[in-house]
Amino acid sequence: MTWDFEKIQNDAHEEIKAVAEASQLEAFRIKYLGRKGLIPEIFSGLAGLSKEEKPVVGKKVNELRAFLTQLLEGKKKDLQNKQRQASLSQIDVTIPGVASPQGHEHILHQTIENICGIFERLGFAVQEGPEIETEFNNFSALNIPVDHPSRDAFDTFYLHEEDPTNKGRFLLLRSHTSPGQIRIMKEHQPPLAVVIPGKVYRPDAVDASHSFMFHQIEGLLVDEKITFSDLKGLLTVFCKRFFGDKIKMRFRPHFFPFTEPSAEVDISCYICGGRGCSVCGRKGWLEIMGCGMVHPKVFEAVGYPKGAYTGLAFGLGVERIAMLKYGIHDIRIFFENDNRFLNQF
Ligand code: PHE
Repeated sequence: MTWDFEKIQNDAHEEIKAVAEASQLEAFRIKYLGRKGLIPEIFSGLAGLSKEEKPVVGKKVNELRAFLTQLLEGKKKDLQNKQRQASLSQIDVTIPGVASPQGHEHILHQTIENICGIFERLGFAVQEGPEIETEFNNFSALNIPVDHPSRDAFDTFYLHEEDPTNKGRFLLLRSHTSPGQIRIMKEHQPPLAVVIPGKVYRPDAVDASHSFMFHQIEGLLVDEKITFSDLKGLLTVFCKRFFGDKIKMRFRPHFFPFTEPSAEVDISCYICGGRGCSVCGRKGWLEIMGCGMVHPKVFEAVGYPKGAYTGLAFGLGVERIAMLKYGIHDIRIFFENDNRFLNQF
C-alpha cells in the first residue's frame, strides 16, 4: 500500500483553513490523529512494507504527524484568540464601574495640617528638617551642656556614624524638633517666623502615653523686639482657634536650657470644663506644650550679633494634642494601622 504524502498534506492544509469552530477542529483531529485516524492507519500499514521501504516511509509518516499536529495547535490558538476578542467586544463600557475604596490622610497628618495651617494664616512658613541630626544642632547649640542627662545614650538614639563636620561627635536621631530652629537661624537672618513639624525619637518604653517615635511641631519667631506678651498672645490665638473659644489657658513657669524665661502651657480641660475628670487626672488642666523666649546663648551659637534680636519659641507634641482633642486614650493606636480606628477620622 502506498500513500501520497504530499496530497494528504495539501488536503489537510485546505481543510484546516475552513475550520471555524471547536467542533470542526475536533473532527479534524479525529480524522487524522485520532485512534482510528489516518496516521495510526498508516503506521499499522508499515508492517506490510519491505525492509528498505519501512524506514523511508516511517520517516515521512512522522513528518506528516508533526505537520498535522502543528496545524491543529495553530488553529486551536487562533480560535481561542478569536473567542477572547469576541468576549472583549461584548464589554459594556457604559456600566458604572466598581469604585476602589478611597484612602484619606492619617489623623496625625490631619492634625499637623490643621496646626500648621493656623500658623500659616498668621504668617508663619512651614519648614522641615532631617530626622538624623548632629549633636551640635540637637544639644550644644541649644545650650544643652555635654553633661546634661538627656545626652546619655539611654535617653537618645545615637548612630555609629560620626558627624563629618565635627570630629569625635556622633550623629543621632533628633530627640526634639528644636534643632530645626538652629538650622533655620544658621541659614536666614531675622525677621523670621517658621513652624517645623516632624518625627522625633526617644528610647522610651512603649505604653499608653509613651512611644519611641512621635511627632512634634516647633515654632520660632525672631525679630528685633519680640516680647513675652507676643508669645502669650500668639499661643492664645492658636489654642482658641484649635480647641475653641471657650478654652482657658495658663502659663506655668518651667525650665528649658534653650529658652529664658520658659513656661509650660496648660489649657482648661475641655472634657470637664475644668471641674476635674479622668482625662485631666482631676486637675482640670491639660498640659499641651513647652515655650519660652529664645536664650541669648542660642543666638550666639548661630552667629547672630549679640543683643540684636529677641525671639519666641514653642514646641508641642502632635499625638498628645490629637489625643486630647479626639478623646484617644492610647498613643499606640496611632501606629497600629487598624482601619477601624483610622476610618473614624
Ligand atoms: N524641645 C522641647 C521639648 O521637646 C519643647 C520646647 C520647644 C520648649 C521650644 C521650649 C521651646 O520638650
